[in-house]
Amino acid sequence: MRPHLLLSAIASLTLTSCVDTSQDIHYIPTPPAVVSEMLRLAEIEKGDVLYDLGSGDGRIPIAAARDYGIRAVGIEIDDGLLERARQNAREAGVEHLVEFRKEDLFATDLTDVDVLAIYLGTTQNLRLRARIMDQMEPGSQVVSHAFGMGGWVPDVEKEVENRKVFKWTVPETFIDGFPSTVPPDEATPVD
Ligand SMILES: C[S@@+](CC[C@H](N)C(=O)[O-])C[C@H]1O[C@@H](n2cnc3c(N)ncnc32)[C@H](O)[C@@H]1O
Repeated sequence: MRPHLLLSAIASLTLTSCVDTSQDIHYIPTPPAVVSEMLRLAEIEKGDVLYDLGSGDGRIPIAAARDYGIRAVGIEIDDGLLERARQNAREAGVEHLVEFRKEDLFATDLTDVDVLAIYLGTTQNLRLRARIMDQMEPGSQVVSHAFGMGGWVPDVEKEVENRKVFKWTVPETFIDGFPSTVPPDEATPVD
């Protein structure tokens, strides 16, 4: 294929794969360097449990188990990807630490999640935000590849291999437009 046609095909694949305008989220894997940075930013501690909502081939939970020795859960709707993720976990020797569950990510119970990883879309992130605030403990971590959380200001936003990576800390009290680190009594919401 000619280079410009290939580029156009890749651009079109990217646009149709992580579109933000519907609730459909197609499979696109996060590059390994981005996975590593997401995990590094998450300040993982011994005993933490990581969830990846929409876990694809399992690369984020598998890397968390392999590189940090923590328990990790992948939530995925696609049977083929679930099977591939389980096979990848066996090959990586971490099947005792990871679990891949067939579940709708919008219905997943987040109460035991210390680190939440997502690569979805802005619409989906915003839909999840209320659930995160409601169910995750203050001080737990959220990392996202590519997409933000509206007015929830990230602690960290950076680029890795031209991909955006975001990290938030779940606050005691969420105030739209303020970083999690600003105590509620010091934050004055702007009308
Ligand atoms: C952009 S991919 C990210 C894959 C993986 N997290 C990564 O970063 O490499 C999004 C994944 O979400 C899955 N997915 C889409 N809708 C879902 C839903 N309602 N519940 C669970 N998984 C879903 C897709 O099948 C796809 O594997």
